[in-house]
Amino acid sequence: MKIFFKKSEITEYLDELKASSASIGFVPTMGALHSGHLSLIKQCLKNNKVSVVSIFVNPTQFNNTSDLINYPKDLKKDIELLENLSKKIIIFSPEAKEIYTDKELTNKYDFNGLDKFMEGKFRNNHFEGVATIVELLLKIIKPNSAYFGEKDFQQLAIIRSLKTNVNIVGCPTLRDINGLALSSRNIKLSVKSKTVASNIFKNLNFIKSNFHKSSIENLISTATNNINSFDQMNLEYLEIAEENKLVPTNVIKSEKKYRAFASVFVDGIRLIDNIALN
Ligand code: PAF
Repeated sequence: MKIFFKKSEITEYLDELKASSASIGFVPTMGALHSGHLSLIKQCLKNNKVSVVSIFVNPTQFNNTSDLINYPKDLKKDIELLENLSKKIIIFSPEAKEIYTDKELTNKYDFNGLDKFMEGKFRNNHFEGVATIVELLLKIIKPNSAYFGEKDFQQLAIIRSLKTNVNIVGCPTLRDINGLALSSRNIKLSVKSKTVASNIFKNLNFIKSNFHKSSIENLISTATNNINSFDQMNLEYLEIAEENKLVPTNVIKSEKKYRAFASVFVDGIRLIDNIALN
């Protein structure tokens, strides 16, 4: 199994493979790997001759330092998980100074409104940080395809909107037995909090089941009350938005596709989830 820490070394190694026209698949991650990541990596291994996984906790996408400090990190365990999945995986695990050579700065973007609500509204500058790191990593790895989870649906839409020349593949959200979306942050939850947190998915499903039966206002207010009725949970946002624009709406048009999006603090841990409604 190959692990690179320097961009010059991985670039040189991949350039040789590219010379033999091997297709390169890439899964960028922030580590604390779980079965959700592994499902993206399995898809990548299936579709490509060469699979690269990056592990880098990107400082510029955190809008507060304590969230960055508390983000779960366990490189040794991540490497073990990847090694058990396939020894063919190439790992790229750079230090921040290797990526952000000078200052940890983000680029400026016009995401055409995709970043105005939900995560973009509540996490200042988050998507600038995500877009900057994804562009930097894609420039280093130069893959044919890159894989991202639909759990971060807004992130996926924003990455798709970048002009990258890379085939961006979205992969379905993986859930635990109670429906809780798999996330690196779940490590921070007790067993009891995880059970409570599964009510996020239950309420998204409630909205889905009643999507054409009740007004959007009613659905949102019932689900909001349900979620907030648990002492451990505090809803940050719950929105219904059309998939392509990601602007919350109360007006449903039959030809368009909608999703429900939620962010909830469960025992102080911020979790997000979304599901397709039609
Ligand atoms: O989804 C993530 O884990 C991160 O936002 C990403 C895409 C790896 C960029 O740091």
